[in-house]
Amino acid sequence: MPTQFSQSTQSLDSFAPRLLDWFAENGRHDLPWQQHQTDTPNPYVVWLSEVMLQQTQVTTVLPYFARFMESFPTVQDLAAADWDTVAEHWAGLGYYARARNLHKGAKQLVEIIDETGDFPQSLVGWEAISGVGPSTAGAIMAMGLHRYGVICDGNVKRVLTRWAAIDGDITKSATTKELWALAERLTPKESSGLFAQAMMDMGATLCTRSKPACLLCPLQDDCLAHAQGRETEYPVKAKKQPKPSKFSNALLIKDAGGNILWLQRPDNGIWGGLWSLPLQFVEKINGEANGKTTGKKQAADNAKQSNVPIDVRSNEKVYEAEFTTAEQIIYEWLAKNDLVTESVSHSLLNDTPIKHSLTHFHWYLTPHQLTIDSTKVVALNAKLNAAEIEFKWLTAQQAKDSLGLPRAMGKIIEG
Ligand code: ADE
Ligand code: SF4
Repeated sequence: MPTQFSQSTQSLDSFAPRLLDWFAENGRHDLPWQQHQTDTPNPYVVWLSEVMLQQTQVTTVLPYFARFMESFPTVQDLAAADWDTVAEHWAGLGYYARARNLHKGAKQLVEIIDETGDFPQSLVGWEAISGVGPSTAGAIMAMGLHRYGVICDGNVKRVLTRWAAIDGDITKSATTKELWALAERLTPKESSGLFAQAMMDMGATLCTRSKPACLLCPLQDDCLAHAQGRETEYPVKAKKQPKPSKFSNALLIKDAGGNILWLQRPDNGIWGGLWSLPLQFVEKINGEANGKTTGKKQAADNAKQSNVPIDVRSNEKVYEAEFTTAEQIIYEWLAKNDLVTESVSHSLLNDTPIKHSLTHFHWYLTPHQLTIDSTKVVALNAKLNAAEIEFKWLTAQQAKDSLGLPRAMGKIIEG
């Protein structure tokens, strides 16, 4: 019987047994969130770890996961925590929207548990939780509840596009559909949790992005990419546009006692909910020039220029939209009081700005500082209070100890 897939029925049917045998022998069985060796799986643990693992590697996640479990052993503990505490636990893992979704998701879960007495038990139930997409929901169903669930995350897509030589662009929905259909066809009804765990291990340890270990792979006999010697040509992905670069000053506004002014970022947008120095957006270039070296050089040149103490009035029009309300107030206040910040060298980086790469752009941050007397502190506080802005004056050490700071801020105050 012909199938809709490029692989034979026999290959499709033997995929799971081969993978599961390999997993039993060679897979990882000691990751702290794994639930395949218990009869009473904990969906909280799987949900938490899956969100952490969405864009981050296992080794990075491990210490964060341990700290979360210590501070928030149950979903009720996480839901009851205040945001600053959660942000502080997350600081450094990146993609902060995940932390906000996690906190919101915990509250949604507690509400559902209070109503029904238990965690959601269906795929749609989990997909309704903030930050949980179809693959994460499948993982929680399969691994966190020992029910039936299918995963099709980046690791799975890499394995399947290679094994079945699927050469459609994986950013296109037609290819996504094809991959989901194949993942469903391959997932065994009875042990989808083990299968999910095994697929993740395969993708992470054998069928890696740049150096797949095909000789050790249980799928090598019928892997079509391997037969063609073209493993690393899959998955096919549309070329990404080069990332734009932004250049900003990070303002260390200090009082006479060495306390620094900190602002809480608005919930939406970059570093939402975390604490940051006020930022002044200096300039933006769209996309690095082709070729890494040119891009870097141009970026460095631009950054040098932005080291010149800037006239706070000149760029107003261009960057207005980038400022938070608080930064706008500070920016206008500095201009009105003829206060100009001074570039400070960053000892670690020899006066070059700190480069921080985010999902959508590279960010070059140059620390600038300014010490103001107590009269000015009072005046600035009054301005910020009048606008109901959240701010704090804390030393670098106090901020590190008590605020959720993005990693880039840590780099600046340590410099
Ligand atoms: N990547 C995503 N989820 C994972 C898991 N549960 N174990 C290992 N790697 C993963
Ligand atoms: Fe990946 Fe190689 Fe295995 Fe194919 S044979 S699935 S390319 S590790």
